[in-house]
Amino acid sequence: MRNALVTGAAARLGRAIARELHRDHRVVIHYRSSGTRARALAEELNGIRADSAVAIQSPLASQADCEALAAAATAQWGGIDALVNNASAFHPTPIGEADESVWDELMGSNLKAPFFLSQALAPSLSRDNGCIVNMADIHAERPMPQHTIYCAAKAGLVMVTKSLALELAPQVRVNAVAPGAILWPESEDEAVDSETQAGILQRIPMGRTGREADIARTVRFLVSGQDYITGQVLAVDGGRSLNI
Ligand SMILES: NC(=O)c1ccc[n+]([C@@H]2O[C@H](COP(=O)([O-])OP(=O)(O)OC[C@H]3O[C@@H](n4cnc5c(N)ncnc54)[C@H](OP(=O)(O)O)[C@@H]3O)[C@@H](O)[C@H]2O)c1
Repeated sequence: MRNALVTGAAARLGRAIARELHRDHRVVIHYRSSGTRARALAEELNGIRADSAVAIQSPLASQADCEALAAAATAQWGGIDALVNNASAFHPTPIGEADESVWDELMGSNLKAPFFLSQALAPSLSRDNGCIVNMADIHAERPMPQHTIYCAAKAGLVMVTKSLALELAPQVRVNAVAPGAILWPESEDEAVDSETQAGILQRIPMGRTGREADIARTVRFLVSGQDYITGQVLAVDGGRSLNI
């Protein structure tokens, strides 16, 4: 049985990805602050198959954090075959209001941690012919108003994807998924009002937001479905990127 690490996996898309990969992987569920939900997910998955899931906390804020998480995840079952960099901060940063702390949080979670986790896990991933899937965003290519830092971090993550795909081949495949509108943000400062939601929906050719399963199944396809795709960014957006 292969082993996957999914960051930010206690809820929402990360949890859906962890559940989907669990069909043929043991899963390390990383969380930062959602310990209760992460442990509940581990319990649910261990109920399906004993010793197949574990929840591990990390702030993912520094290189040392990433190395410690990689070491703990690797130690759990002797290696990691699939890394899914899903954890992400998402805040608007209108010009004039951003400060260094929000820069560090957005760049740290969306760009720095994926790079340093990839670096720390590269030996294990290489040994096991593993893969990395980075959760990017269709707005890595086309800006979202007032989200310059988030978009720049995701654009950096796309380049990390392509660059590491070259550097780690042929042992490790590295790809990204670029979701469109899947789940609206839950926290107040990220809230999308109903008028904006309706405007976005109108511009999605498929006429609906995506489902968690649309993303989770795509990640599983990139992890387990084939072994000749690397360095690619797969938009799962109902056609929205054609019409931003
Ligand atoms: N939702 C969408 O429609 C959509 C659209 C485009 C792209 N995406 C991308 O898809 C991925 C999953 O989306 P989502 O909406 O499910 O994510 P989310 O719920 O906003 O965040 C996932 C997890 O990331 C962790 N996290 C947040 N800030 C962090 C920080 N500063 N450092 C470390 N971890 C942090 C949190 O873990 P804890 O709760 O444990 O603290 C959170 O539960 C993200 O990479 C996102 O950018 C999503």
